[in-house]
Amino acid sequence: MSSPNSWYETLTSTPALVAGAIGVSVAALFAVGSGSGSNRTAGQVTEQVKEVAHSVNAQGSKGKVAQAAASIMSAPSTELAPPKDDPITPSQLSQYDGSDPSKPIYVAIKGRVFDVTAKPEMYGKGRGYNIFAGKDASKGLGMSSLDAADAVPDYSSLNETQMNTLNQWESFFEKRYNVVGKVKPE
Ligand code: HEM
Repeated sequence: MSSPNSWYETLTSTPALVAGAIGVSVAALFAVGSGSGSNRTAGQVTEQVKEVAHSVNAQGSKGKVAQAAASIMSAPSTELAPPKDDPITPSQLSQYDGSDPSKPIYVAIKGRVFDVTAKPEMYGKGRGYNIFAGKDASKGLGMSSLDAADAVPDYSSLNETQMNTLNQWESFFEKRYNVVGKVKPE
């Protein structure tokens, strides 16, 4: 059961659960900033977890995302198609939420629709980031929240730090996923 990749698989499919398992709430984890903290008992996993969390949230630390990308996050894609402008309504978008394995999976950020079909282990049904699938959940991305209530397109309530986080996710997606359209009101 303990293959070298098992912790990674677990992290990417159930981040919130893992945070609980190692005794760190997601909220606390994302609030630690660059402090050393005392949650070192889980050793390597904890360090990796922090690295991801920090890279996404650390304010004004440009390059951290790139560092994390080198060590743990998937690499940017070198073969992106030209972005499409096709209008996609929210109800159309909702059909690409990973519940039908024969359909693509879409995640929208600030109204731009990204095709994340290549990552069913993250965005597929029952997976850790399925909350972002089939919708524009910009607010939740900015808040580092996996809560359904935050998975909404209106990000106008985000503070500056959260806006930075959202913008970092936007740039993360831009580098990895094809843009297949734009969200258009019904
Ligand atoms: C304990 C907490 C967390 C852990 C351990 C964790 C772990 C990870 C790991 C290891 C990856 C990289 C996977 C890969 O590139 O193959 C990842 C990606 C990601 N995480 Fe988390 N994460 C946590 C919390 C969160 C939260 C709260 C959010 C909410 C915004 C979030 C959103 C994402 C997103 C959007 C990706 C990019 C997935 C992709 O398209 O490649 N994570 N996470």
